[in-house]
Amino acid sequence: MKLRDFALRILLSESIDEKLAAPPARLADSDPEPARLPMAPARPRELQIARIQDAKVPAREGMADPAQRARILHAFANHELQAVELGAWALLAYPSAPSAFRRGLLCILRDEQEHTRMYLARLAAMGRRFGEWPVSGYFWNKARHFTTPLQFVCAMSLTFENANLDHTRAYARSARAAGDAATAALLERVHTDEVGHVRFGWRWLRRLKEPAESMWDAYTRALAPPLEPRRARGEEFHAGGRAAAGLDAEFIERLRSLGPSHAFGGKRRAGGKRT
Ligand SMILES: [Fe+2]
Ligand SMILES: [Fe+2]
Repeated sequence: MKLRDFALRILLSESIDEKLAAPPARLADSDPEPARLPMAPARPRELQIARIQDAKVPAREGMADPAQRARILHAFANHELQAVELGAWALLAYPSAPSAFRRGLLCILRDEQEHTRMYLARLAAMGRRFGEWPVSGYFWNKARHFTTPLQFVCAMSLTFENANLDHTRAYARSARAAGDAATAALLERVHTDEVGHVRFGWRWLRRLKEPAESMWDAYTRALAPPLEPRRARGEEFHAGGRAAAGLDAEFIERLRSLGPSHAFGGKRRAGGKRT
């Protein structure tokens, strides 16, 4: 099987099982031809991407209530599924990127498939199923701006996954406080994997940026509005996760000083803007 066919199957299949099927051990990556590139994933009817306002998610305080916790985990499963789909999309979008970059994308994609399966198993244990509530396209909505591998890693790895270093820690703590050790363990596992995903972004930012440009300047210049550096952190800043991912002290300090950003689909800020 070719890598591009594996990626296309993830994007074009309406079956969640097919999207989450792990890659075969050997995938030929010898065909640099650009593939047909959909800007939206095929999905089963109940998981079609809805408007943000139709796919509201309880704030983190909802973790205390099992019914709201299930809705939050459902939204997290959809974030993971988007990460799977966008990993496949990137494999098709950047056929001539360095092979080490493409291999790294595939490794991350495999992790994201596993994360999705773990959230779905947790939902099933709570008597819930994927597609029970409308889902948003928080990540997919930005994909039209990912015209280069540099823009992709700055948005996905160094913004969304970077912020998830904080979100996973905070939600794990809320799950533990609610007595849900299984959910807390799942979130800690995702946190650990996310460190590696942020590290991937950091390394490729260093390799792909203009040599004379600083890491911070190259990062901020690669983000297209409404994405901004503040989206790369949560309410409580976990510096240790960034250090583990290899980010340098100056970059970490810049992120910290931006101030809190709330979880995707969570609260509305004072200005009324959903973050
Ligand atoms: Fe993930
Ligand atoms: Fe990730």
